[in-house]
Amino acid sequence: METSTLDTVTTTTDFLPLNGTDHLEFFVGNAKQSAYYYQVAWGYKLVAYAGPETGVRDRASYVLQQDKIRLVLTTSLDPNSDITRHHAQHGDGVKFLSLWVDDATASFNETVKRGAKPYMEPTTFEDENGTVVISGIYTYGETVHKFVERKNYNGPFLPGYVVPANAMEVTPVGLKYVDHCVGNVELGKMNEWVSFYEDVMGFKLLLTFDDKDISTEYSALMSKVVSNGNGYIKFPINEPADGKKKSQIEEYLDFYHGAGVQHIAVETYDIIHTVGELRKRGVDFLYVPETYYDDVLDRVGHIDEDLDALKKLNVLIDRDESGYLLQIFTKPVEDRPTLFFEIIQRKGAKSFGKGNFKALFESIEREQAHRGNL
Ligand code: FE2
Repeated sequence: METSTLDTVTTTTDFLPLNGTDHLEFFVGNAKQSAYYYQVAWGYKLVAYAGPETGVRDRASYVLQQDKIRLVLTTSLDPNSDITRHHAQHGDGVKFLSLWVDDATASFNETVKRGAKPYMEPTTFEDENGTVVISGIYTYGETVHKFVERKNYNGPFLPGYVVPANAMEVTPVGLKYVDHCVGNVELGKMNEWVSFYEDVMGFKLLLTFDDKDISTEYSALMSKVVSNGNGYIKFPINEPADGKKKSQIEEYLDFYHGAGVQHIAVETYDIIHTVGELRKRGVDFLYVPETYYDDVLDRVGHIDEDLDALKKLNVLIDRDESGYLLQIFTKPVEDRPTLFFEIIQRKGAKSFGKGNFKALFESIEREQAHRGNL
């Protein structure tokens, strides 16, 4: 019918359709040992490897997978490489927030046309399992979005990677997919990067938190959340705000030496099981005082879970108009106070736990004080 044709025509087309997060690649100091941590403590399975044994001379990369989450850990073997320089400056951290697309060439052209700084022109990689096209653009700091087109590929990860011969048996902890990835940017730069995601990548502004939402006695931050058209990709962007003492975002920027990925939130369908397992295996989480639980149900109303079980694991609860969520944050997973993980279970809620910000940030500030950085 003519009217439905008109409707279609007036609908804005998404110039950058994204199928989801393809993988997160970290540059680390010792990928072999980091891979052991993610296998034993987090239950990721080693599914692919590239390095000297596979003909790669300058680096070693380990691909770890749990359900839809793929982490790649890369260490350089060359003291003069850009990876080595990146690691010396930033420590262990996320270099590539790689997005799964159907057309890596169009993704590159559409974003570069709108002002993206190119990292990598569309390039085809090939092996006996097929072809993959990869392109890339810079985002905040030295972080890069790769666009990965893998519809003509059925290998374990990317061309050149092989299934490792003796991958250890692992027990998954129930992690399902990447819910959101948060970036910390320099003071005054948040709006610039929100505009980048809006104008260059076609994302929409979803939420805004100002220092009234997020300030504690000492420090404050500002945050805006952008999301792509289908909502699969959500990127909150934080910047420091004035407080009495050093903001947790400033601490990150000081130790990462620039803007970068602050945390990666991963979804579970059973947070009590997931966090129970992670704690047993030695993963450290932020601590929120038990008094948090005294009146939490007055704030969030009925929840399906046993409150005592959540309290025992120190899992936090928040509610918005669509439902509630359960969440907990690890301490930084490297010696610099930089990257950490969030475990989240969404029971309808689409937001990010604003009701927990105060309790959480007080907890982070206790940790900053322990480190002598407050
Ligand atoms: Fe988060």
